[in-house]
Amino acid sequence: MNDITTREDIKLMVNTFYEYVQQDKELNHLFNEVAKLNWETHLPKMYDFWETILFHKPVFKGNPMKVHMDLDNKTKLKKENFDTWLVIFKKTIDELFVGELADLAKQRAESVAMSIQLNTVYKK
Ligand code: HEM
Repeated sequence: MNDITTREDIKLMVNTFYEYVQQDKELNHLFNEVAKLNWETHLPKMYDFWETILFHKPVFKGNPMKVHMDLDNKTKLKKENFDTWLVIFKKTIDELFVGELADLAKQRAESVAMSIQLNTVYKK
């Protein structure tokens, strides 16, 4: 197995991750029924997000904190949703890649998950 080195790798990572997400009842509900997500526009945004994080390519334009706070205002997000999200994300990485950037992706997902939770699940 190799590390994450190209945008193609990121596409594989993101697409595989969301295939697993669809299989989880609660996450599937949040993405498809609550957010009514347009996958065609969401997926490229996620490729950009990970390219910016992993390859330091400044292509991502977005505001992850705001989108998750908006989602939380529609339906309260739970700690368990983030736990499941992270389990699926790490499983996806471990099935496909090994290396420094694979490790970094898992770390960054954890820290973004924590900061989003501070403004949603644990907000006062
Ligand atoms: C409970 C767990 C999560 C749920 C249900 C969730 C759901 C969503 C939804 C529905 C959107 C699209 C919002 C929209 O375009 O209207 C979104 C965007 C996004 N999510 Fe999550 N998310 C979760 C956790 C995470 C985590 C842990 C990360 C960290 C890597 C993350 C990264 C992003 C990014 C980068 C975007 C794009 C932001 C933008 O367009 O500005 N999400 N998420």
